[in-house]
Amino acid sequence: MTRILICEKLDPICAELLRAAGFEVEERTGLTPGQLPEAVGQYEGLVVRSAVKVTAELLARAGRLKVVGKAGSGLDTIDVAATEARGITVLSTPGRNANAVAELVLGFMLALARHLVPAHNALRAGRWEKSRFPGFELAGKTLGLIGFGAVGRRVGSLARGFGLDVLAYDPLLTAAEIETGGARAVSALTDLLAAGDFVSLHLPLSPETRGLISREVIFNRLKPGAFLINCARGGLVDEKALAEALAAGRLSGAGLDVFENEPLAPDHPFLSLDNVIITPHLGASTAEAQTNVARAIAEQMIEHFRTGSGGGRAA
Ligand SMILES: NC(=O)c1ccc[n+]([C@@H]2O[C@H](COP(=O)([O-])OP(=O)(O)OC[C@H]3O[C@@H](n4cnc5c(N)ncnc54)[C@H](O)[C@@H]3O)[C@@H](O)[C@H]2O)c1
Repeated sequence: MTRILICEKLDPICAELLRAAGFEVEERTGLTPGQLPEAVGQYEGLVVRSAVKVTAELLARAGRLKVVGKAGSGLDTIDVAATEARGITVLSTPGRNANAVAELVLGFMLALARHLVPAHNALRAGRWEKSRFPGFELAGKTLGLIGFGAVGRRVGSLARGFGLDVLAYDPLLTAAEIETGGARAVSALTDLLAAGDFVSLHLPLSPETRGLISREVIFNRLKPGAFLINCARGGLVDEKALAEALAAGRLSGAGLDVFENEPLAPDHPFLSLDNVIITPHLGASTAEAQTNVARAIAEQMIEHFRTGSGGGRAA
């Protein structure tokens, strides 16, 4: 019988569907990084979310493994080259959590524009500081999206509802594809950076995109006073430069869900900046998104083991 290991906490629908399809499923979410390599050799299928890193070393211990299923998008936690070298298929669920991430992006934008976090904190501390928090409206402002896939598109659609002018830069799409998705296509990244009152990142982390939002971009390319939102991946941004730019007022604020090193170090400069809102990688953490990705990865794995296909692979 085909054995599948679910090694991170997932909506129970994943195990239910796999068992109903006749697989033997073990949910072992408490395995330590030392225990996982010991265990992984017993399974044909492995299901992960975002915490477990599927490395070449782990795969070397996984002699029976045929499929790795990621209940989420972004394959930066999986050594895809090593899976390919071993003939292991990687499945993932791009787009199934897009709305959850997009709503968090809009949440950051609204909270930054209206000082929701500092105003809340001041009032809880007993200070009624009505004149300290003048805000601005999103309507009429410009939002620049870097990456116009499932999440970027959904953010664009929600933002248009708030009356923002939405620009998108995505070198892997044609201008016509971007316009069909409802944004104005920008062919040069520098033009988007210069125009955005808000710039939001929605591209994968890869060797090519690592550090895309560099010190040069932060201090010389982004519009002075702009807001940066990152709900994609931490390695896309030079965090040190970003913290300096926020402290100096070069940028007005940032909403950040992802970081170069997670969990965030307790002395990280973002933790002491009032114009930053940070969340612990919550982008896909809604009940709906977790059910969607758990169901989708189970369906793809069932399909794959039955027919050798199943799709869902994403960058
Ligand atoms: N915070 C979270 O919990 C969370 C949840 C889901 C996704 N994500 C991240 O959000 C990002 C987008 O996810 P998605 O589901 O929309 O992925 P997607 O694959 O649907 O879209 C990514 C888009 O980025 C574009 N792209 C690639 N290289 C680019 C470049 N150099 N410049 C601009 N665009 C580029 C691609 O053409 C594609 O259209 C990924 O990094 C993913 O890991 C984070």
